[in-house]
This record gives sequence, C-alpha cells and structure tokens, in this order.
Amino acid sequence: MKVLCVGDVVSRVGRDMLFKYVDELKYQKDIDFVIVNGENSSHGRGMTRSTYNEMKRAGADMFTMGNHVWGAKEVVHIMEKEGDVIRPLNMQGTQPGRGSVIMTAKNGTKIGIINLIGQVNMVPANSPFDAVLAEIKKIREVTPVIFVDFHAEVTSEKMAMGYFLDGKVSAMFGTHTHIQTADAKILDGGTGYITDLGMTGPIDSVLGMNKNIIIDRFVSGTQHKFEIATGKGQFCGCVFTVNDDDGKCTDIERLYIEE
Ligand SMILES: [Fe+2]
Ligand SMILES: [Fe+2]
Repeated sequence: MKVLCVGDVVSRVGRDMLFKYVDELKYQKDIDFVIVNGENSSHGRGMTRSTYNEMKRAGADMFTMGNHVWGAKEVVHIMEKEGDVIRPLNMQGTQPGRGSVIMTAKNGTKIGIINLIGQVNMVPANSPFDAVLAEIKKIREVTPVIFVDFHAEVTSEKMAMGYFLDGKVSAMFGTHTHIQTADAKILDGGTGYITDLGMTGPIDSVLGMNKNIIIDRFVSGTQHKFEIATGKGQFCGCVFTVNDDDGKCTDIERLYIEE
C-alpha cells in the first residue's frame, strides 16, 4: 500500500495546497491513505471544525497534531465525534484525546498511526521512548502497518527515535520544525524514515509567519503578535510504500512542490 504523509499544514495557504495537490497525488501515485499534521491548520494554531471539514474534503484521512493541539478548543469535540484526530501519546497529565488510532485504508488494509512529541526544546512531556513500545505492541495485534509522527524540535532526538523504532514500525516521520530535511531513507530493519516532512503553507514566510514581524523580533527585540503569511504556497510530504503482509517499507519518495 502507499501512504501519503503531509507536514504541518499552516492556515489558508496550506489548506489550499491540500486542495490543489492531494487529489492529484492520490490519482497519480495510487495512494491508499493520507495522514496530515493539522496542528497549525487554523490560522497557525490548532484545528477548528471548519478547517477540519475543509481538509477532509481535500482528501485527508486522518490528522496528527503537536504542541499546538489545544490551540482551538473545539478540537476536543472533533476528536470525540470523528475519531480520526489524535494528539501526542506522551503528553503529561490527563489531557483529552488519544495518542493512536487504527483505521482502514482504501485497499482494505488496517493501518495504525501513533503521534509522539519530543522532550527537547518542547512543552513538558513524558518520555516518548517509554510510551511508544506498549502502543506498538497493542497495534501489532491488529496490523503490522504502523506509522509514527514524531513531533519534535531537534534532529538528534528524531534520528534516535528513528533508529529506536527501526524494524518495529513501517515508517517514522518528523514534524514541527516546518523545514523539510533531505534525509528520506529506509533504515536497515525496514522502517521508512525522514527527520522532518516540512511545512505545507506560505513559502515567503518564517515557518509560515509574516517574516517582517519575526525579523523585527530578532533585530529590535519587539514582541509584536505573530501574523500568518500570505502569498504562494508550498506542499511538503512523503509517500511511503509499505508491504501489507509484514509492514516493511519498500520505497520512500520525498515531495516538495512549489505553487
Ligand atoms: Fe507546526
Ligand atoms: Fe509544533
């Protein structure tokens, strides 16, 4: 089966990019399932009902989140009602939602998706390394096809997780930095890996935000409120080909499309 994974969708420009490319990619590449990181989809922070509906119409099958998961309160209701939005498994305390889900792809294969968050330069979280193994064990009773979105800041933590998960999951992709890394590969144990999928959102921006405000923060120290950037978009993701029988990744294709 083929799974398209799309990195942090930022606001209107990002959602428009989904409309422009997900359907076409599904057709061109015979995609069976689409995972989208939706933590920034509603004006840069969180996910509202209308952005959820839009992205579903654009072809997303499910959503992973990150540190901005609670940016819009209504996401709690969406999680409960729809069952296809997950938040990082290893968040602290008794937060709503769940950290994994098992769904059925277009070709009938069951796919498990786990969302994790890093501990370095990030919101407080429990160890993702401790949390993930038990979750994999549970999902493996149903299917060997398992995808992990590791939402983390630093490359070292993400690479360590990739090697930690090698042979245990079909693929691990990173999200959060909004910058695509050029290291898509299949690890020795058959796990597809990329450190970060990159952002789907406005090109002419600093991580999706108005660049002038961010430059000002660095130059003069002013703390003006972030504004979402507009203009042309970019689409960042990866297509993973996975063997349905043993869950191993056989091919990985990095996608970077400019409007
Ligand atoms: Fe993000
Ligand atoms: Fe994030």
